[in-house]
Amino acid sequence: MDRYLVFGHPVRHSKSPFIHTLFARQTQQELEYGLAEPAIDEFAQALRTFFDQGGKGCNVTVPFKEQAFTLVDCLSPRAKRAGAVNTIKLTDDGVLLGDNTDGAGLVADLKSHGVTLADSRILLLGAGGAARGALAPLLAELPSELVIANRTHVKAQQLAAEFCDLGHVTAQTYEQLAGSFDLVINSTSASLQGELPPLAPALIHTDIAIYDMMYGASDTAFISLAKQHGARQTMDGLGMLVEQAAEAFTVWRGIRPGTKQVLRELKRNLGVI
Ligand code: ATR
Repeated sequence: MDRYLVFGHPVRHSKSPFIHTLFARQTQQELEYGLAEPAIDEFAQALRTFFDQGGKGCNVTVPFKEQAFTLVDCLSPRAKRAGAVNTIKLTDDGVLLGDNTDGAGLVADLKSHGVTLADSRILLLGAGGAARGALAPLLAELPSELVIANRTHVKAQQLAAEFCDLGHVTAQTYEQLAGSFDLVINSTSASLQGELPPLAPALIHTDIAIYDMMYGASDTAFISLAKQHGARQTMDGLGMLVEQAAEAFTVWRGIRPGTKQVLRELKRNLGVI
C-alpha cells in the first residue's frame, strides 16, 4: 500500500492522519498515512530513510519546513516563494519534489467562507514563516492593498520588499495602522504564549472579517477579541488545515477530495460541534 506521513516535532496531536484517511476513503484511494517525530537534528536522515523504504510522499510541519526546503531535489514555484516546504512528493522519475500548499489552503478557506479578496484592503499580522507562505497566494487574488504589521518591524519591511513585485504590499508598525481594513489575518504565533498581537481594538469594526490561522476547541484569544468588538465575520485556521491537506492530497494522487464533510468530521472529532 502507498505510504505517506507527516514529519513534525511535536506531531502527536496532528490531525493530518485523520484528514488524509477520510480523503482516501472518500476518493477510494488505497493508502496509509502515519506520523513521524524525529529528533530535531535527525530529520534529514529520517526523511531519506522514509523514501528509501518506499514512501510516496509526506507532509512536513513545524519545525522542519525550512529544512525540508533545502533537502528536496526540486521546488515548485510557490515553495520557492514561501521559502519553506510542507509537502513532498516522490515523482515517477524518482525526484523529490518540494511544494508548499499552506497559502493555497488559506485562500481556498477564505473563499469557502465567501470572503472577497479582489480589491480588498488586507492587514496581515506577523512576518514569520506562516506570513511568508501566505503572501504570494494572497497577492495573486489582487487585493487593492496588503499591509504587513509585525512586532519586529524590520522583518515586515523585508517581507514587503521581497514581495512588492507581486502587488501593492507595504509594511507598517502596529502604531501606524490606520483606516479601514476589509480583512485582518493573524499569522502570528502570539496565542501559543497566550498573548495577543498588539492590534488597536479601534481597528476592528462591524464590517471587518477576521481570520486567525490558529485554532482550538474554543475561540482563540484573537477571535474572542474580534467578537467583542463586533467583527462581522470571524474564522479560525481549521479550514485552512483541511484545505492545505486537500491541496497536498491532489499533488500526490492527482485527484481533488471534497473538504466540507471532512471539515465537519474534524470539528466533531475536536468537540467543536
Ligand atoms: P511561524 O512559522 O508560525 O510564522 P515564526 O516564523 O516563529 O513562526 O513567526 C512568528 C511570528 O509571530 C513573528 O512574526 C513574531 O513576531 P516577531 O518577528 O516580532 O518575533 C510573531 N509573534 C510571536 N509572538 C508575538 C506576540 N506576542 N505579539 C506579536 N507578534 C508575535
